[in-house]
Amino acid sequence: MAVNVDAEYLKEIEKTRRDLRALISSRNCAPIMLRLAWHDAGTYDAKKKTGGPNGSIRFKEELTRPHNKGLEKAVAFCSEFMIKPFLRCYYSSGPDNKRLLFPLMSKFWFLISEEVKAKHPRVSYADLYQLAGVVAVEVTGGPAIPFTPGRKDADSPDDGELPNPNEGASHLRTLFSRMGLSDRDIVALSGGHTLGRAHKERSDFEGPWTQDPLKFDNSYFVELLKGETPGLLQLKTDKALLDDLKFHPFVKLYAKDEDMFFKAYAISHKKLSELGFNPPRRIPSAVTEQTLGIAVAAAVVIFTICYEASRRGK
Ligand code: HEM
Repeated sequence: MAVNVDAEYLKEIEKTRRDLRALISSRNCAPIMLRLAWHDAGTYDAKKKTGGPNGSIRFKEELTRPHNKGLEKAVAFCSEFMIKPFLRCYYSSGPDNKRLLFPLMSKFWFLISEEVKAKHPRVSYADLYQLAGVVAVEVTGGPAIPFTPGRKDADSPDDGELPNPNEGASHLRTLFSRMGLSDRDIVALSGGHTLGRAHKERSDFEGPWTQDPLKFDNSYFVELLKGETPGLLQLKTDKALLDDLKFHPFVKLYAKDEDMFFKAYAISHKKLSELGFNPPRRIPSAVTEQTLGIAVAAAVVIFTICYEASRRGK
């Protein structure tokens, strides 16, 4: 459905941003929100012009791919009322119970965004998920990422494949170039693993990439250059950034200079969040009125000059 980005919509976006900030900080869910934004956008196919940040991840078929099939019913019973006791139970349980409860837990982020959506029904899912990604980076200390609203919601799930963590550099290039993203984007965006962790129940991998997975900084690259550290994770796709001759210089640069990483990350994240998105042209009403006023005044002046000139000429 088309999004009419009028003054009211912009106000709603700012309120949503505030709600997301409070929610993400209080629930420490920045990593999963960033991953949500990435997974909604990362289906983009630049040639076919399909997929991208269009909110399609909200559809069960895409959301349950490849995990958690059949648990939608249980999730549907969850209300805000049930979430808090459930979370308490999840965090205080041992690893075996965590594994059992995980399928429900992994749906939690969806409920969180539903919570915000219920408060701001005009905001598209596509804008909501991308705004959540931008806010997640910002509240954990990362760079400010400019956000342009107006994404349309898809009305069916996307097909686009996401990168396989067991593959190497050429796979990364194939998938990211399908999205229209470059080598520089691949390395900068992989720095998103400065946040969060892998969960055995979800991906078969376990552990964080950095010592402080709730802080957005350049430590992902610092750790990558150090080599394997007990307790920290490096996927095959992460290691590929070290081994590939074109990726490696960016890894070194971002490990050495956090400002350079932040600049590059903000550019690449904005690109990712706008794949296939053409922001609607919007002329603010204040500008329209002002422009009209100036045009009328200019017309009166020109008319007066012409009239005077023709009178003198007679
Ligand atoms: C380059 C290809 C990528 C691969 C193969 C990959 C793979 C993975 C895997 C396997 C996990 C663990 C999931 C789990 O077990 O919970 C993960 C988590 C994560 N990924 Fe990626 N990822 C990639 C790129 C990205 C990008 C581009 C971003 C964001 C810009 C990102 C952000 C995250 C975050 C924040 C988490 C942690 C989520 C959490 O803590 O719940 N990843 N990724």
